[in-house]
Amino acid sequence: MTTNSIEVMGLRKSFGKQTVLDGIDLQVGKGTIFALLGPNGAGKTTLIHILSTLSEPDSGVARIDGYDVIDDRKAVRGLITLTGQFAAVDEVLTGLENIIMMCRLAGLSAGESRVRAAELLKQFDLEAAAGKRVKSYSGGMRRRLDLAVSLVVSRPVLFLDEPTTGLDTVSRRSLWETILQLKQQGMTILLTTQYLEEADQLADEIAVLNHGRIVASGSAESLKARVGGEVIELRNTLDEVILSLPTSGTVQDVSRTLNEIAGSCPPGTRIYIRKPSMDDVFLALTTTDNKEASLV
Ligand SMILES: Nc1ncnc2c1ncn2[C@@H]1O[C@H](COP(=O)(O)OP(=O)(O)OP(=O)(O)O)[C@@H](O)[C@H]1O
Ligand SMILES: [Mg+2]
Repeated sequence: MTTNSIEVMGLRKSFGKQTVLDGIDLQVGKGTIFALLGPNGAGKTTLIHILSTLSEPDSGVARIDGYDVIDDRKAVRGLITLTGQFAAVDEVLTGLENIIMMCRLAGLSAGESRVRAAELLKQFDLEAAAGKRVKSYSGGMRRRLDLAVSLVVSRPVLFLDEPTTGLDTVSRRSLWETILQLKQQGMTILLTTQYLEEADQLADEIAVLNHGRIVASGSAESLKARVGGEVIELRNTLDEVILSLPTSGTVQDVSRTLNEIAGSCPPGTRIYIRKPSMDDVFLALTTTDNKEASLV
């Protein structure tokens, strides 16, 4: 039997006149990774803050392992770790000093702190940089340290708010590995991201959040089937995009799509193939037939 670690029902939150969460329902199975995919301002951080007891909803229910985020706040805090959207490490200290400081704040002795710090530095591939000031770290190293620091005390549920935003491809991939290892250790992880590829690589289940509502949810496969594997982009001689067409990404589908449009392309039209962007996701999820696009 699968049990849910996180349960959210009818969650609403407004700031003044602005409705930021407009009735959110979701469940996250124990030991799984759930990705909340959405653009800037969608309400991702607001939801994470409510689930991690940093703010209260206006209405609705949210439970972590059966504990209510408002009524059982203390129990919830004992079950969760939050790695926020913006780095929480001290730049003047070294990586090792940052981890030791958090260990001591968590109540570990000096000896225990040294042992735990060594474990975390190894786990997050920061051993070589342990003695350097964080100021000199790359974005990827900072993000790994941020995660290490928040995992000083191991808890079953982890919230990761945009763990890889702003990182280059190599750092992003290395962080993905780390996140998958945490899942293998049995953690339940809810992460937010603006990258479809990230949700695809990591998540067992994805919910697409837009303007405070979940506009689609399911496995990466089921969403991709709706969004398309690769997008064919046609550009005119001025390098302006004149048409974007989602395809499944197979040779057959791409060539069939090209055959359909080849006759109506102006001379000099060039073709590009790219991964779907957030815009494509929303276009595909908010229009009933996304192949109805016509040449402009
Ligand atoms: N404390 C607050 N007071 C007023 N408005 C807020 C507050 N927190 C968030 N908002 C507004 O709520 C909306 C959603 O913000 P939120 O930070 O949850 O979005 P997000 O999906 O995390 O975006 P991003 O990808 O940029 O981090 C935004 O329009 C934001 O301006
Ligand atoms: Mg945010």
